[in-house]
Amino acid sequence: MKSEELYEEARKHMPGGVSSPVRAFKPFPFFTTHAKGSRIYDVDGREFIDFCLAYGPLVLGHRNDEVLDAVKEQLERGWLFGTPHNAEIELAKAVKRCFPSIEMLRLVNTGSEATMSAIRVARAAKERDKIVKIEGGFHGAHDGVLVKAGSGATTFGIPDSKGIPAEMVKNTLQVPFNDADALSEVLERQREEVAAVILEPVLGNIGVIPPEEGYLHEVRKITAENDVLLIFDEVITGFRLAPGGAQEYYGVNADITTLGKILGGGFPIGAFGGKREIMELVAPAGPVYQAGTFSGNPVSVVAGLKTLEILLRERVHEKINRAGEMLRSSLREIVEDASLPVFVGGVGSMFQIFFSEGGKPVKNYADALKCDKDKYMRMHREMLNAGIFLAPSQFETNFVSAAHTDEDLKRTEEAFKEILPKIAAENEV
Ligand SMILES: Cc1ncc(COP(=O)(O)O)c(C=O)c1O
Repeated sequence: MKSEELYEEARKHMPGGVSSPVRAFKPFPFFTTHAKGSRIYDVDGREFIDFCLAYGPLVLGHRNDEVLDAVKEQLERGWLFGTPHNAEIELAKAVKRCFPSIEMLRLVNTGSEATMSAIRVARAAKERDKIVKIEGGFHGAHDGVLVKAGSGATTFGIPDSKGIPAEMVKNTLQVPFNDADALSEVLERQREEVAAVILEPVLGNIGVIPPEEGYLHEVRKITAENDVLLIFDEVITGFRLAPGGAQEYYGVNADITTLGKILGGGFPIGAFGGKREIMELVAPAGPVYQAGTFSGNPVSVVAGLKTLEILLRERVHEKINRAGEMLRSSLREIVEDASLPVFVGGVGSMFQIFFSEGGKPVKNYADALKCDKDKYMRMHREMLNAGIFLAPSQFETNFVSAAHTDEDLKRTEEAFKEILPKIAAENEV
């Protein structure tokens, strides 16, 4: 196959043949030629219904026409200025309308930059060095957060990356997700040293794990009582669960929010924002340095603006959340009817299949690690053969977009119905 040949070639020139680790699934990843709507096409002429969706940004599906027009118009005007431009103000205002907890924000280029800078400003605001992170949470590939990190770090067995001096992570404390008592205990002991708690309100990088009822409210209460800032990493959930992300969906406000993915409508972007007095610490207004040649990139900004406009105008969240719920409930029926040891997790338009022991619910990192990830990959391969592209790791999330049709979802359910029992019954490779 052409993809296999290209993969061989790519591995000669790039580590693992890819530009980001999770893309390198076995035996070889397909190489894409183009994509449209819910479909992605490879160099061998195959067509797949895409639920990986570039790991989250493509909430409208691939190559949305209106976003394409907005980008083309921007390209005609120029694609990088290195000066302020009006669309940045418009995007900032649009974000603030969606997220009442954000009074001011800084645009950056990736989710990684957003979390790195959010942590920096939180440390400056509190004049303390430690942060608390959730086990299995992923906040990008920078030093201070690559401790028990999910996503590719867990997929490839390097949740604590080599090359990071112990000094860099000694200030990163860890607690399990869905365990408010553990957070309380840590903060009671170390509140004088902790600047912030950073968490994905829905864990999206070890499969999808939603918060248990009341957990986020507890976290909000505990952080406030201990005078510690709460950072919600909404790089995945922002504009996905609701226009106002997990904060709107669950009714909990953060002190600082990080955004990315959907915010750029498929183009590179990130943002961090929060209370005015915190954000005014950021340079040039204040003493916390943060900068970037490509920050506020006009193409990403107009693509994001157009995407947010469509999300609100078309009430996309109602559609995709309903589709996600229906898909999960059909999958649960398949699992129950055949008594399969499989857990179907997710919330809104996010879903994942877990091969957990006896199909037990997966509530945190420890539970996710116990799942049979080889089985997941065998299912992934079979689904690919059936024309469906799922996220290529047990420790990632699948997404439904506005471009998925009822017909797409029906075909997907049928494929799962055939493939899940087969995989669940296998004991060995
Ligand atoms: C929750 C979360 N935070 C941060 C990041 C890092 O974002 P980026 O890949 O844009 O650097 C990711 C990426 O998957 C993420 O899922």
